[in-house]
Amino acid sequence: MDDLLRLARTMMVRAYAPYSRFHVGAAVRDEEGGLHGGCNVENAAYPEGICAEASAISALVAAGRRQVLECVVIGPGPEVITPCGGCRQKLREFASDNAKIHLCGPDGLHRTVTVAELFPLSFGPHHLGRS
Ligand code: THU
Repeated sequence: MDDLLRLARTMMVRAYAPYSRFHVGAAVRDEEGGLHGGCNVENAAYPEGICAEASAISALVAAGRRQVLECVVIGPGPEVITPCGGCRQKLREFASDNAKIHLCGPDGLHRTVTVAELFPLSFGPHHLGRS
């Protein structure tokens, strides 16, 4: 997970967050072992901003991959950063229930949770008859 954390840190530095000043980085590992990073990208029209996790997932899909095996999220401060509700749904689309999400701060790993712990009773592809 060191490689993922390194990429997520780089992403956090690159975040475009002039409104919240809350820089977040994310990195995901795909089914081939490839890494994809993303950061939050805010917008003067506030709701148009995107989260770091959404950005990293978009990079994974754009690279032709479909699975998130593991994810690192890193943000500022001592509080544990947890993905917002929308990002939990987005992660859940591409990750299995037991995929690990590593929640990190500037000082390193704070906590590791699974997708199922982060997002119990989630709506997912199986509700639509997809595996
Ligand atoms: N943010 C993320 O990118 N990921 C999270 O997990 C939590 C929040 C962003 C959205 C917004 O740009 C800023 O952090 C403050 O909410």
